[in-house]
Amino acid sequence: MTPADPAPSPSPPAPKGPVKSAQQVEVDESKVWSLWFTRREFLTLAAWGAFLAGLAGTLLSALRFFIPRVTYDPPSVFKVGKPEDFSPGVVDERWKKKYRIWVVRDAPEAGSGIYAIFARCTHLGCTPNWLEGLNKFKCPCHGSGFRRGGVNFEGPAPRPLERCRVALADDGQIVVDVNTRFKNPKDWKRPDAYLKV
Ligand code: FES
Repeated sequence: MTPADPAPSPSPPAPKGPVKSAQQVEVDESKVWSLWFTRREFLTLAAWGAFLAGLAGTLLSALRFFIPRVTYDPPSVFKVGKPEDFSPGVVDERWKKKYRIWVVRDAPEAGSGIYAIFARCTHLGCTPNWLEGLNKFKCPCHGSGFRRGGVNFEGPAPRPLERCRVALADDGQIVVDVNTRFKNPKDWKRPDAYLKV
């Protein structure tokens, strides 16, 4: 070094502790948000969001009110025909698919009455089948068997098939009400469970 050379400037002091890279520099979230929205704008947006959500809910409710839900369930009270439409001693299956009942007319020696059996197994609710050749109802699910009148005699079903309320309408047709059912065989000879014809 000659006397004309300037003295080297002192280098800055080395930072104490570990040096952070660019990615490691902590980011202040509130400052980032403030780059996009002011606090006032953010609150305004939130208020609009809540208002629009409420409006959509109200519109949906109104739509539901004006467009009633349509169900295609069969009615629970219906007519099945006149007594003479049912042959004595026959388990009639015409209404099983639509209304889940059998209409049974006793043979003359058994009283000639007409009753409706609800086609739902009393074990777990499957629909049994009428087996004319074996003179019984048989459940396909777990094998319960029921006699012609509906009394259980085999398999896990704990009680007989239920009978539905029956009545004669003014026009002479039989009216069946599947929502009124008789579980106890003691009730099966009631006038509203057994139509004498
Ligand atoms: S549901 Fe009929 S036997 Fe189980």
